Amino acid sequence: MSGLLEIRNLRVHFPIGGGLFSKPKLLRALNGISLDVQEGEVLSIVGESGCGKSTLANAILGIQKPTSGKVLFEGKEIHHQRRRDIAERIQPIFQDPQSALNPRKTVKDLIAMPLRVRGAHSAKEIGRTVDEIMELVGLPQRLGHSYPTALSGGQRQRIAIGRALVTRPKLIVCDEPTSALDVSIQAQILNLLADLRAELNLTYVFISHDLSVVRHISDRVAVIYLGRIVELGPADDLLDDPLHPYTRKLRSAHLSTAPHQELPKPVFKGGFPDPTNPPLGCHFHPRCFDALEVCETHVPGSVRRGRSDVACHLYTGLGTPGDDMTEIRRTGSTEEE
Ligand SMILES: Nc1ncnc2c1ncn2[C@@H]1O[C@H](COP(=O)(O)OP(=O)(O)O)[C@@H](O)[C@H]1O
Ligand code: SF4
Ligand SMILES: [Mg+2]
Repeated sequence: MSGLLEIRNLRVHFPIGGGLFSKPKLLRALNGISLDVQEGEVLSIVGESGCGKSTLANAILGIQKPTSGKVLFEGKEIHHQRRRDIAERIQPIFQDPQSALNPRKTVKDLIAMPLRVRGAHSAKEIGRTVDEIMELVGLPQRLGHSYPTALSGGQRQRIAIGRALVTRPKLIVCDEPTSALDVSIQAQILNLLADLRAELNLTYVFISHDLSVVRHISDRVAVIYLGRIVELGPADDLLDDPLHPYTRKLRSAHLSTAPHQELPKPVFKGGFPDPTNPPLGCHFHPRCFDALEVCETHVPGSVRRGRSDVACHLYTGLGTPGDDMTEIRRTGSTEEE
């Protein structure tokens, strides 16, 4: 079954630095991402800061051109379509509503803007739609003529959500939509997004650096490390019984706190690697407590375990006594692609 959104072997590489006498370095922000998102599904993308989540969001929104690979929406390549046409059907909700909302516009003007840009509606139609949307996202009508600076962070995020919905898109790309909010407000916004999804039959790509945030909203979760998917599976499987050592570490942080408390950072061996010079083999190996010798030299390919896909040599069968190195051809490679 093909999805509403299909991502095929997507790579986004940025040249960094370079001058008269030196070549630029290559930062592989996305390095071979493949995903399908079905209509009505919530697929979450999780990983530490710098792993490539926003680059993926921007590629789906048509803002970031792929170096190679494809992003297809309803079977058509996004980067071959006009930005304006894509924006009608795929809308973003970003982390910081403050910077996304013009402080000189009122709440009603901000929500109406995508309809005005479209230019196909009368003032009366726009007014009616904006009132409906305000109700839908839980903004009282009395705030309609307020300016965003006079409102709370949660109310501003409701404006951003309302504006994202006003053209009746099919897919919403939520890039850390609750990360800038107080912990107590986060739950309200997550509940609102879950309600809207059910009511409007929306599809979400939901991005977060925090596994605990995605549990209640996701059907499936993809975990990314340095531009590659390391584990992808149904949310319950991945959160209750994670397979990849990196997912396990991310989860251990969230298990060790009481509800509604700030999360501690997961404990890894060493820091996040230099993305312009990632470790060979499995990119995670210098930080992995389970690393095998083979992990330093061979990129793990993805294998199926239960209902999940996992890219880790603990499951490829390489590097353990009696392994078969010819498996490399099927599961992975020694080379940086
Ligand atoms: N336009 C750009 N030019 C150069 N490097 C970039 C650009 N955008 C992102 N990066 C780099 O790509 C990597 C992934 O960034 P990003 O997608 O923003 O990660 P995340 O959203 O997971 O924090 C980071 O190392 C970041 O510094
Ligand atoms: S491939 Fe090796 S280094 Fe990478 S996560 Fe698995 S065990 Fe750890
Ligand atoms: Mg980001």
